[in-house]
Amino acid sequence: MTARTSDVAILGAGLIGRSAALACARRGRTVTLFDTREPGESSPAGAGMLAPAMEGDGSPSEKLLIAGRDLWPSYVAELAALSPVSVHLSRDGILALAHDPDEAGRQRHPAHGRPRWRSSAELSALEPGLRAPDGGVLHELDGAVDNVALIAALDFALAAEPRVGRVGAAVGVERDGQHVRVLGRDGSMHLVRFAVVAAGAWAPKLTGLPRPLPVEPVRGEMLGFPVAATRHCIYGNGAYVVARPGGRTIVGATMERVGFDPSTTARARQDLHAAVAAFLPQLANVEPDAHWAGLRPVSPDGLPILGPDPRWPAIIHATGHSRNGILLTPMTAAAVASWASDERPAFDFSPFRPDRFE
Ligand code: GLY
Repeated sequence: MTARTSDVAILGAGLIGRSAALACARRGRTVTLFDTREPGESSPAGAGMLAPAMEGDGSPSEKLLIAGRDLWPSYVAELAALSPVSVHLSRDGILALAHDPDEAGRQRHPAHGRPRWRSSAELSALEPGLRAPDGGVLHELDGAVDNVALIAALDFALAAEPRVGRVGAAVGVERDGQHVRVLGRDGSMHLVRFAVVAAGAWAPKLTGLPRPLPVEPVRGEMLGFPVAATRHCIYGNGAYVVARPGGRTIVGATMERVGFDPSTTARARQDLHAAVAAFLPQLANVEPDAHWAGLRPVSPDGLPILGPDPRWPAIIHATGHSRNGILLTPMTAAAVASWASDERPAFDFSPFRPDRFE
């Protein structure tokens, strides 16, 4: 069989794969995007929270998550020039409710816009429906993006991009001299200079990789309510809340190690509903009209696995984003495009090297 050729193969078409494909194409690379549809994909399932203050656990994730967050305004503006699909970006801040004032101190970080302790009364002024007797912190620079609209916007831009070809799933890679041979599930073969591993929780299933990838699926169950309950994103005890355009409220999320099982459970529905109703009482008597789950690709340290593989630098890893795949989409896309152009990104990605677990 004759192999098809392009500069870059992207193995996986979630948000990381799609955005990396577009970024590579805009740097002049020809791209084959291998699109695997799996039940439980994390990209459409997430709530789109951009929350370095809540999801970072100190250095080195802190710098990465903040830099990733700060790329969003220009990323959405650039995408708007390529697609008519509007992508809502909220930078109204994230409210982190505390159980006592000490907790607010632990959440402070200068790069988060000097978050300040807010009393219960101040929080009520910001969010009239909120019950937060112990106060909390407003992380002013954090927010959320509509990840579902983002997928649609990227699909439009990719379809209009002549350098990108979209094909079915890849099963793995093989060495072929200076090239990588990517094997399609349909029996096709593709010769490329670089292959980008962007298959999320499914990345360890790809054959021929230079190392086993310690990424496991961790299920997050989510609820959707058909009402507008808040303006801000809110992290409360046992649940977080994101306001979606069009008068909807998204509530997440569980952390369940159940393998590749994307089903939902009555237990999670009950627990999430009770947790959110404790701080947004108006939701107590509203039934969720949607309940779904996504499988996060979680690495042992919760940090992404990024960069060319030291054993085979033509393989570029872009997986293991754990709880921050949406937040890190523009950052990862730009870095992949640099690596696939034989350039070193300006940001120091060495803490996220693929060989750090050896
Ligand atoms: N970033 C939130 C979550 O993974 O649930």
